Amino acid sequence: MNILLFGPPGAGKGTQSAMLVEKKGMAHISTGDLFRSAIKNETSLGLEAKKYMDKGDLVPDSVTVGMVEEELVRQNGKDIILDGFPRTVPQAEALNVLLDKYEMKIDNAFFLEVPNELLMKRLTGRRMTADGKHVYHLEFNPPKTPGVCDITGEPLIQRKDDQEDVIANRLKAYEESTRPLKDFYKEQGNLRVIDGTGEPKDVFERIVDYL
Ligand code: AP5
Ligand code: MG
Repeated sequence: MNILLFGPPGAGKGTQSAMLVEKKGMAHISTGDLFRSAIKNETSLGLEAKKYMDKGDLVPDSVTVGMVEEELVRQNGKDIILDGFPRTVPQAEALNVLLDKYEMKIDNAFFLEVPNELLMKRLTGRRMTADGKHVYHLEFNPPKTPGVCDITGEPLIQRKDDQEDVIANRLKAYEESTRPLKDFYKEQGNLRVIDGTGEPKDVFERIVDYL
């Protein structure tokens, strides 16, 4: 079973993906994480993506789709979770072409619904390890020792695009480019709208009900 998670910045896509990986053994493909890793490794893809990400703009579709195809091939038939891809209608169309090519399908397109006033709070309070693998929140999921990862002991950092002015631009990009995907997947018949409020484990149960 292959799924995708979409929704506004801070909706909990990464949090739910981590739970699905741990409890269901699925493979996680996050375009945001892939771009951040390319930036860290200073590859040409990373340098290109950084120009857009630092401002909260979307990276061009041409760059993004090729990167996802490589990742689909690398996962070699494992059940996948697409996190943050597609996030434009042209990306969703390009994904359909890839799915046909590799004889795959998306069983459930989960849309995580969270009211705007909660999103800003979730994003400004988010802290994580440098690789983004372990994510906390100052108020909703604080680490045992402030500023330190419970699991690895690494210092926690704040994402560069989690500043209020950049978040505002990310929310604008979401409204303009990503929200229309709801209609796209509704028409395809695999849209599942999930209430993304409440405890992460409650959101997880709402998702698992469909799996
Ligand atoms: P990306 O990294 O995908 O960022 P995003 O979509 O803005 O989403 P976030 O990662 O910020 O939020 P999330 O939904 O994962 O929430 P999380 O679980 O962390 O993309 C970054 C940038 O890369 C984009 O702006 C763009 O430039 C570029 N990009 C990426 N993909 C692209 C694409 N396909 N096309 C073009 N450009 C692309 O949770 C947030 C916080 O809330 C955490 O602190 C968490 O602990 C907390 N939290 C989570 N769930 C709950 C809950 N139920 N209750 C309380 N707190 C919670
Ligand atoms: Mg994320």
